[in-house]
Amino acid sequence: MKVSVGNKVVLIGAGDVGVAYAYALVNQGIADHLAIIDIDEKKTEGNVMDLNHGVVWAPSRTKVTRGTYADCEDAAIVCICAGAAQKPGETRLDLVDKNLKIFEKIVGSVMDSGFDGIMLVATNPVDILTYATWKFSGLPAHRVIGSGTVLDTARFRYMLGEYFKVSPMSVHAYIVGEHGDSELPALSGATIAGVGLAKRLKENPQLGPELEEIFVRTRDAAYEIIDAKGSTSYGIGMGLARITRAILQNQEVALPVSALLRGEYGEEGIYIGTPAIIYRKGIRRVVELELDEHESDLFAKSVHTLREVQGRFWEETKPAD
Ligand SMILES: NC(=O)c1ccc[n+]([C@@H]2O[C@H](COP(=O)([O-])OP(=O)(O)OC[C@H]3O[C@@H](n4cnc5c(N)ncnc54)[C@H](O)[C@@H]3O)[C@@H](O)[C@H]2O)c1
Repeated sequence: MKVSVGNKVVLIGAGDVGVAYAYALVNQGIADHLAIIDIDEKKTEGNVMDLNHGVVWAPSRTKVTRGTYADCEDAAIVCICAGAAQKPGETRLDLVDKNLKIFEKIVGSVMDSGFDGIMLVATNPVDILTYATWKFSGLPAHRVIGSGTVLDTARFRYMLGEYFKVSPMSVHAYIVGEHGDSELPALSGATIAGVGLAKRLKENPQLGPELEEIFVRTRDAAYEIIDAKGSTSYGIGMGLARITRAILQNQEVALPVSALLRGEYGEEGIYIGTPAIIYRKGIRRVVELELDEHESDLFAKSVHTLREVQGRFWEETKPAD
């Protein structure tokens, strides 16, 4: 078995999302080798050539190659972006049957290579497919991570930043729960330039409906973007690159990802969006946010939505009656 010593990433599925991720990785010099696998070999060859032609201007060299599953053997990370995407009007959960079938094969092939690294999943419905990847792979849960609400959180921080006229980097607010229609904003612990949003809300109750509108725009942004340009890609590509950098550089940074709950938020046996500490070995621990009563209720509903879908495929996750 070839053990991963470097920063090799294998990307499986180089459509709009996968290519945006690949471009972010190369542009930021995060990996030393990026191998790309896609069933469309001709398109992949074109993407590999095109990406390699930018390497000389990147902060460090990334070797970009067209990969095979044998490449997974010594990869530090395998990132899966393969599968069907939402069409206008479709929800993420509508994709589950198609993408589960694809994942069973992909994850089997990755594991047959002798892979012993970290799996990062972006394909939708991402929470369910991350759970599936954990089940199909037999890897420990801390080494199977979904992109979760990393994109939703980035959208929310951007929109809050626009509203409060401050950089999104000075906004600290998470979207948690399903990456999908039942997600929620964790407003009670949010801060804008260091000042608690709860305090701002107390001083200015009119803020409430405006924040609700910002959240709704965040939650529904994908529908708007898909309607306008067919897919969302740059935001998630950069979010995946951020998670990859946190892993490869052993950053121990809190990022909102899809992680397996083991008692946090009073739940277990479910992958869902929550902040977690990301380091070289995957997830060091899940961060349980202090949610208020209303947020806790919404979180429980989001868990229930995911459990209902999971329960169709895995006996042990059926919701309790
Ligand atoms: N997690 C997030 O926040 C987020 C955001 C946007 C999109 N997505 C999801 O990412 C997925 C990809 O979206 P997209 O817009 O790139 O779709 P796309 O159709 O552009 O790309 C999918 C790619 O997967 C490839 N593929 C299909 N089956 C494969 C297989 N068995 N092996 C290897 N490659 C295979 C296709 O050839 C194609 O290149 C979708 O499920 C989408 O909903 C997730």
